[in-house]
Amino acid sequence: MTPPKVHWKWKRVTSSIVSLLVVFVAVYYYYSYPKNVAPPAAHPKEALDQILSGLLRAEQKVDHARPRVALGLGGCLDVIVNALKLFEKLDFHPPTKVQHHSSLQNQEQLQELFGYFFQFGAAAERYVENDTFFGELWQGANSIKSRKWYLGGNALAMAQRLVQEGAEVLLGMSYSEKLRALLPPQVKVAGPTLETDDIHLILEYEKGVNWGSFTSPRANRLILHSDNSNPQLEALEMFREQLDTFQPSLLVLGGLQMMDNFPYEPGVRVERLNKVQEMLSILPRKTKIHFEFASFTDMNLLHEIMDKVIVYADSIGLNEQELPNLVTLLNDGSVTLVSDANPRIATVLDQMRYVYSHLHNESEKEGRRQLSRLHVHTIAFQAILTDKSSTWKNSMSATAKAALTAHRHVCGSADIDTLKARILMDDSFSTSKDKTAQRIPLQKNRPVSCWDEDDFQICIAPVLVCTKVQQTAGGGDNISSAGLVLQV
Ligand SMILES: *[C@@H]1O[C@H](CO)[C@@H](O)[C@H](O)[C@H]1NC(C)=O
Ligand SMILES: *[C@@H]1O[C@H](CO)[C@@H](O)[C@H](O)[C@H]1NC(C)=O
Ligand SMILES: *[C@@H]1O[C@H](CO)[C@@H](O)[C@H](O)[C@H]1NC(C)=O
Repeated sequence: MTPPKVHWKWKRVTSSIVSLLVVFVAVYYYYSYPKNVAPPAAHPKEALDQILSGLLRAEQKVDHARPRVALGLGGCLDVIVNALKLFEKLDFHPPTKVQHHSSLQNQEQLQELFGYFFQFGAAAERYVENDTFFGELWQGANSIKSRKWYLGGNALAMAQRLVQEGAEVLLGMSYSEKLRALLPPQVKVAGPTLETDDIHLILEYEKGVNWGSFTSPRANRLILHSDNSNPQLEALEMFREQLDTFQPSLLVLGGLQMMDNFPYEPGVRVERLNKVQEMLSILPRKTKIHFEFASFTDMNLLHEIMDKVIVYADSIGLNEQELPNLVTLLNDGSVTLVSDANPRIATVLDQMRYVYSHLHNESEKEGRRQLSRLHVHTIAFQAILTDKSSTWKNSMSATAKAALTAHRHVCGSADIDTLKARILMDDSFSTSKDKTAQRIPLQKNRPVSCWDEDDFQICIAPVLVCTKVQQTAGGGDNISSAGLVLQV
């Protein structure tokens, strides 16, 4: 049953406040960015080969079991297309001024929003409120020869990756027969069937390309969707019913950003999230809970997710743009929309400590859990923090595997060719912005650095950044899953 859609006038007000904040943050980063980032050292092929074999050795050090993993919620069909080709086809132009929008109605808004994120090379995901406009977009995309269709959505993408890694997988998702047929048959699916699946449009662009007067500082993508099924977490009840018999050792929750710009009455969203909270709070402790963070715009939603999901998680996975969001949320409750695309390791580590110290201190009342694992994926490196007293295993191998997966995903090949790679990480890094912090060298023959602090361990691995980009979307899902599968 579909609750009635409502119109949102009040949203305009919050959205313009958010836009002001965004511009401020964006301007700040625009000016601070060049000073923050040291030019990457040029590494000869030999050094890259050495790093590669070091990472491969670390990845292969462990034999993982076949963990039972339950993943929710949702899935969709992704159409991946070159953004600039699509705009050419549809005759969309660079805007005279860029502007942030928290959701989209028409061509003009899309042009402004795309320009806004494109100039920073920042990833973003937005809801298209206008079904007619969305239909035009995906038909345009579908008529471009080089477009590709994939199964998408965080839970579904992670499920596929985990099946490839040998895990037993239960996926909570509503789906059409067409989508089911595309899924590996080993995946158990729990959820209602659909006539038409939700479609996500992934508009990719390369580094250094021009759109009018704008140039992209890095390869990235804008994701557009107009979902009807996913935002309501339609599969939740059937998924929950199966958990008892499936007995997963890990439950992964992702895709909740689909509830951003929730097209139904606000009360419905809270009701759905209450059901998620109920499910998590009664899950036996031997089932670990991982939450895959994402790009959220609605602060109310983020607060609800903090109270109803994050405080129940043992583990969180997120990227370098989402980490400052989580820090700000814990700090003063606001949302950061664009942040440094190439943050320094010291900055990321300080933010990780901040998140860990807040969420690890969570009382374990009423099914809540203390955070014991944090995985941050960035373009230049992978970082995994684990509580030393927890049962998360093989941090070093998991960090190496995550780094290798980042390259494999973006280059679209399981074999790594160092001629298509470069290292963005510096030859040594400071473990904190604190002046007394130690410096750790990047050792080419042992590229994964792990060390202990207080009650936790941190591991850092350099990414052999792919220079021949095949795809960027879904990277976080592949990388997070690759890290998790070695740790449960
Ligand atoms: C919705 O999209 C259609 C097709 O692009 C467009 O003609 C119409 O103006 C849009 N509606 C709004 C409210 O912008
Ligand atoms: C968490 O607890 C530790 C020790 O129990 C304390 O040192 C730290 O300040 C606490 N952090 C926060 C954010 O409350
Ligand atoms: C990433 O995941 C998709 C499935 O979601 C899979 O088709 C693809 O091969 C994966 N890429 C890598 C490098 O693992």
